[in-house]
Amino acid sequence: MKTALVLNGPNLNLLGTREPAVYGSATLADVEQLCEKACAAHGLKLDFRQSNHEGVLVDWIHEAGQLQAQGKLAGVILNAGAYTHTSIALHDAIKGAAVTVIELHISNVHAREAFRHHSYISPAAKSVMAGFGVQGYALAVAGLAGLAAQA
Ligand code: DQA
Repeated sequence: MKTALVLNGPNLNLLGTREPAVYGSATLADVEQLCEKACAAHGLKLDFRQSNHEGVLVDWIHEAGQLQAQGKLAGVILNAGAYTHTSIALHDAIKGAAVTVIELHISNVHAREAFRHHSYISPAAKSVMAGFGVQGYALAVAGLAGLAAQA
């Protein structure tokens, strides 16, 4: 059974209390549960993580590349938070690790401030999702399972 690695970037530990009008009232623990269910339904194992530190996310993407090369990982669902809009390091990590990444955003970043319209992740990602609320995580798990089945 392959693993789906779900990586959450800065401030996503605050889900539930952080700008609920934008991100909803589900906590990160609720999102993890939702991902557990989706992974069970799609025959994947879940590895769910969050960090506020860019370098930690870079290290996890490198680790993911190795696991995918070994046939153990279906890919990464990455909500890089604000690093989406700033991080060339994450862009380079995804390309360097040659790992399948689904870029995910809870909110529709394109309907928000102009500084959220550009993503350094998108050109390195296999797929991009935004605006489905936290249910997007379950949709992304289904999408990753579909991509892994095609590979
Ligand atoms: C986000 C959107 C980003 O612009 C923001 O910085 C986040 C969360 C989202 O899930 O909608 O932290 O990635």
